[in-house]
Amino acid sequence: MSTSQLLSALSDGAFHSGDELGEMLGVSRTAVWKQLKKIEELGLALSSVKGKGYCIEGGLDLLSKVLVMDSLSSECRLLVKDVDVRASVDSTNTVAMSRVNLGKGYVCTAEQQTAGKGRRGKTWLSPYASNLYLSVVWEFSSGAAALEGLSLAVGIAVVDALAQAGISDAQLKWPNDVLHDGKKLAGILLEMAGDAAGPCQVVIGIGLNVTMPEGAAIDQPWTDINSIDASVADRNRLLALILNALIPLLNNFERRGFAAYRQRWEALNAYKNDEVAVMLGERAEIGINTGVDDSGALVLKTAAGYRAFNGGEVSLRRMS
Ligand code: BTN
Repeated sequence: MSTSQLLSALSDGAFHSGDELGEMLGVSRTAVWKQLKKIEELGLALSSVKGKGYCIEGGLDLLSKVLVMDSLSSECRLLVKDVDVRASVDSTNTVAMSRVNLGKGYVCTAEQQTAGKGRRGKTWLSPYASNLYLSVVWEFSSGAAALEGLSLAVGIAVVDALAQAGISDAQLKWPNDVLHDGKKLAGILLEMAGDAAGPCQVVIGIGLNVTMPEGAAIDQPWTDINSIDASVADRNRLLALILNALIPLLNNFERRGFAAYRQRWEALNAYKNDEVAVMLGERAEIGINTGVDDSGALVLKTAAGYRAFNGGEVSLRRMS
């Protein structure tokens, strides 16, 4: 018996006795008990009450390949090779990077990441069955230059998916943070494999906070879907909506380029016309956020004139 089997048995949020769980899963009470310890280690709220047994308070909304596949649009279904649903991985991006040979359309998602990666070497907090962590492999034929602005365009897909889910006021902070009410709701991390000058594969990683446990240690203002509108916090539906928006965008991006998405990005620019600081390591460049150019670079109006910044390892802060 695996931890996942026991978790599915407890996902209904009801009490189950050790004997009942053992019978359901065809194992001894001792085997059940060992797996219950592992569930506690995942940080899930497992209650045990004498005479009643065990339950996971509030139940669990586990990821289901069938539910996700059933909610994909016909366009998306043709382009998605596999939705690989895992219980626990180090990072879905790392798994996807090791599967780039499977070609475009491989999607990896997991209940938990033990080493989730954020931008600029940060970690991405990824507790079990709480949020969405997904990575998509895509192939592009004309090298890195054709991919300028791709990570910004991915942000648009996430905002569009949120609007489909009923959250219509998400915004984008350059280069690719998804904000709601000024707080971070989702993050995007692109990694590239292959030839920067020729055919290359890109892993597009997205982390969306759905129901972050209380007191999560995150070093910036954040929010989650559950706090915005608990009625839309269905992870399988959200995952399908993200893929329905993202996959067609990836399929068209190389032909269209970022210029085709620029206006839409501008409309979602959270800090438009604000005074901002672009952090370049220890150094900060201050200016007015005038928007992005056709390559997705941020254009600041500084005391020394207009200056354009590319994404990479750069970050942005609002001055007031
Ligand atoms: C950021 O710092 O804003 C980017 C966060 C990206 C997190 C996602 S979660 C799925 C994928 N796997 C990872 O390890 N990181 C990305």
